Amino acid sequence: MPVNLKESWWIRDVEIPTRVVLAPMAGVSVQAFRRQGRRYGAGLVSSEMVSCAGIEHRNERTLGYLRVASDEHPLAIQIFGSEPRAMAEAARMVEAAGADLVDMNFGCPVRKVTKTGAGANLLEDAELAYRITAAVANAVSVPVSVKMRRGIEDGSRACLTLGPRLVEAGAATLTLHPRSAKQMYTGYADHTLTAELVSLVDVPVIASGDITSRAKAEAVLAATGASAVMVGRGAQGNPWAIQEIVDGDAAQPAREEVAAELIHFIRETVRELGERRASGFLKKFYAWYLGHGRFPKPFKNELVQLSSTDDVVTRLLAAAPGAADLLAELEADAPDEEYLLEGMPISIYGGG
Ligand SMILES: Cc1cc2nc3c(=O)[nH]c(=O)nc-3n(C[C@H](O)[C@H](O)[C@H](O)COP(=O)(O)O)c2cc1C
Repeated sequence: MPVNLKESWWIRDVEIPTRVVLAPMAGVSVQAFRRQGRRYGAGLVSSEMVSCAGIEHRNERTLGYLRVASDEHPLAIQIFGSEPRAMAEAARMVEAAGADLVDMNFGCPVRKVTKTGAGANLLEDAELAYRITAAVANAVSVPVSVKMRRGIEDGSRACLTLGPRLVEAGAATLTLHPRSAKQMYTGYADHTLTAELVSLVDVPVIASGDITSRAKAEAVLAATGASAVMVGRGAQGNPWAIQEIVDGDAAQPAREEVAAELIHFIRETVRELGERRASGFLKKFYAWYLGHGRFPKPFKNELVQLSSTDDVVTRLLAAAPGAADLLAELEADAPDEEYLLEGMPISIYGGG
């Protein structure tokens, strides 16, 4: 019997309405991305990794990552660091900001992060990983979770000894992306490890890696016994992939629909990051949205050259005039700005 992807499940007392989780992705998982993910059926969404040092030093841009919209719950905010006290302090701020879960990053393979002892480095430093998890779990009343890779070296099985220890330390759920840190994104995610991890712990496990279709999601859930699948790259510029996985609705979006969704995303991102940051940030999204054979390549290249997001919107509306009506519907359904910022921790966030 295939697992019902539309079934809800629980992380302690947090109900997750579907078995699809939107992955945390640095440089991608802005609020607009998370809210869109929820709209298309993701049961849980996550912020990108946020530096606990940045939170501790009240770095303005870092604190911007703690803005939570009222319509994106349930939401995990992910933190990274290597110092138990600083991680606990960051976790308190994350809870105060309104996150339903505090997630910890024990998998980032990027040298800038691992050289500080954080990210994937913690996979091979079980003692420190335990102390961080215990400190964070004791600091907050919301459930805490840890996202791991399999280990640092290829073929490593470190996650299987570490995972149960982290549960003892207080982790209420574990996510496994079963590639090594060395692998980065090459090769494939070996979900036989996910199945082993599921058999070793009594908390829900989320399977991350190479989930791009409903067939793959069902196969991984059935083979591993994981509680949910996480979707990352498959959802970049493609919320329809989430819909396909959750609902089995494989219809490809019409051009108008793609243009409307992209314009809505552009406008929300500009509101969130400001025009200057957003115009650079958004360029990769143009290729992601307009790819999949949806628009001709020269059109994508033209959009990337435009200097303002207003110009991009104008060009998109000219290419797909029917998008205007769909966009009006999307905007009418979206909560207004005041509602959006309701959960913002004004006392700690200086604007910008
Ligand atoms: C651009 C990008 C940024 C990522 N940033 C993070 C991050 O901030 N935190 C994290 O735990 N994982 C991060 N990941 C890993 C993803 O969450 C996910 O585990 C991985 O991409 C495998 O899933 P996929 O095959 O569905 O993409 C990132 C991945 C990508 C592609």
